[in-house]
Amino acid sequence: MKNYDAAQTRSVTWDGERLFFLDQTRLPVDVIQEEQLDSEQVWDSIKKLKVRGAPAIGIAGAYGLVLGVRDHLDASEQEFLAKVRSQAAYLDSSRPTAVNLSWALKRMVARAEQTAVNGTQVIYQALKAEAVLIHEEDKLLCRGMGEHGLPLIREGMGILTHCNAGALATSELGTATAPMYLAHEQGIAFRVYADETRPLLQGARLTSWELQQAGIDVTLISDNMAASMMAEGLIDMVIVGTDRVAANGDVANKIGTMGVAILADYFGIPFYVACPSSTIDLATASGDLIEIEERGADEITFFGARRTGPEGIKVRNPAFDVTPNRLVTGLITEKGIIQAPYGENLKRIFS
Ligand code: MRU
Repeated sequence: MKNYDAAQTRSVTWDGERLFFLDQTRLPVDVIQEEQLDSEQVWDSIKKLKVRGAPAIGIAGAYGLVLGVRDHLDASEQEFLAKVRSQAAYLDSSRPTAVNLSWALKRMVARAEQTAVNGTQVIYQALKAEAVLIHEEDKLLCRGMGEHGLPLIREGMGILTHCNAGALATSELGTATAPMYLAHEQGIAFRVYADETRPLLQGARLTSWELQQAGIDVTLISDNMAASMMAEGLIDMVIVGTDRVAANGDVANKIGTMGVAILADYFGIPFYVACPSSTIDLATASGDLIEIEERGADEITFFGARRTGPEGIKVRNPAFDVTPNRLVTGLITEKGIIQAPYGENLKRIFS
């Protein structure tokens, strides 16, 4: 196995002036950092999942906004602020489900508005600082989830995860994987089962790759094997990430997550969702109000370059589903593990 240094495998890198994304569509075969030259390229990279995962697209969007306004410093302050707002709306249109993107862009616009009256250069510097802050804060959020989730992991345990809620989906450590990385650091031996996650294989291409890189015992399974692994008694706990948690605790995450939650419920296995506060959307009352991204038919009718469905076939391709709150054992947040009643507890801790 080839070993990469941390810088090569970081999802988002900002060197003060230049922005790079690890192109996740090319993993696990190629590890390529691709420079992002303008906000159009950032929009495209988010849309095509070169950068993906809820926290990572929030960070990516914030830096994308910096790139989108930097050629407009000669404009009047009002024109510059209008550009900030229109670029934020544009970047936000790249993907609808993960709330982190709009959360980060709203923060950027608010920072620009607060800094106004001091000239475009001052607003621009403030925007750069805010993007870096969002990026740095995410590292703390991941560590917080890791520390609160760590006591759940016991020696010898089997943990199932779905999609990639790992370091690649965040600034570092991941959300669902944060407790796993900390447990591994402490020498606790456990096994991870990574669902491959059809149709885009984030579990196979990303989760099993990054955990293998870290030396964690990981077994890759196809999605339809989860029930069988549970029936064999190999799974003691499920931990997944999320793209948006509604105010009542309903959880949107990668398509297939709800099925895993139903299986866990059937087999009496705890089902945890790791979520930083940036993913909690108290403005959305319940999961049925979350916009679910519908992606192109080719992701279903082709497996890589090979056609696997007949030409002209009707296709559905929702990228996410919503797990009802009653199937969630707990939300692992940077402020602790939150349990039902979610409506009450989320409001008390996060509003
Ligand atoms: O379509 P993706 O790959 O962006 O979907 C990502 C997920 O569903 C993750 O589980 C979620 O963003 C949590 S990331 C820490």
